[in-house]
Amino acid sequence: MAAHDALCARSWDTTAYNGRMWTAITRDVSPALAKCELSFVDRTPIDLARAQAQHAAYCRALESLGCEVIRLPADAHFPDSVFVEDVALAFDEVAIATRPGADSRREEGTKVLEQLGMVRPLRRIEAPGTLDGGDVLRIGKRVFVGRSARSNPEGHAQLQSLLAPWGYTVESVSIRDCLHLKSAVTQVAEDTVLIQPDWVDVTPFAAYRQLTVAPGEAHAANAVRMGQALLYPDCFPQTQARLQAAGIAVTTVDVSELQKAEGAVTCCSILLRRGEAA
Ligand code: GLY
Repeated sequence: MAAHDALCARSWDTTAYNGRMWTAITRDVSPALAKCELSFVDRTPIDLARAQAQHAAYCRALESLGCEVIRLPADAHFPDSVFVEDVALAFDEVAIATRPGADSRREEGTKVLEQLGMVRPLRRIEAPGTLDGGDVLRIGKRVFVGRSARSNPEGHAQLQSLLAPWGYTVESVSIRDCLHLKSAVTQVAEDTVLIQPDWVDVTPFAAYRQLTVAPGEAHAANAVRMGQALLYPDCFPQTQARLQAAGIAVTTVDVSELQKAEGAVTCCSILLRRGEAA
């Protein structure tokens, strides 16, 4: 079996973790990616083969940072299905099916939830609630949720109820001019967020050191944090320099074709840490 096929076929409950502490659920790029939802990005031609190669490199980068990567097969019925982050949330104690806000994405999560259901009790956001995982940023026991076109107040309220038993607090955050909360802010170190202040109310993040994106790099606030590692797009060199000046080690990936589909690095994986609180 070719290495790629072996990776795709690997089941969640593999016993060969290779000593890795993290698991990422990913999904290969849909051949229908060009029909993706777009909200704040103009539609431009997407090179599918290049998008697939970039996604494969993204998966390899996660592996190089110490992550076991599960690659679910692509699905031509769901153009946005590479963006697994939106369909489910994974906490240490529970996984939550999100009920995405775009109709075209509502049924997208089945395969991802099958995986999560093997390792976490599964709860669901129910109609009329909607929630996209891209709107949910957990920092410790604080869960920030973007007030976006995709995530409605009912979805916020249901998430609060579902997470309350484990001591999480849910805080709604205003965003503007971007798709998701994590388009505008992500955690990049224990005490630090990377933030695009034009797109998000910074007040809820007052407890953290705030690094702002560099001028001319509007989309630069999205990064994947995995322990001490940070996976980051290679197209924001000035913001990358700010991260490095702040003492944060950065591993870069080229996700330019996925960005044309209004995707970002966090969108392409659901991360879980094995055995202990992340
Ligand atoms: N294309 C990403 C989304 O709109 O959900």
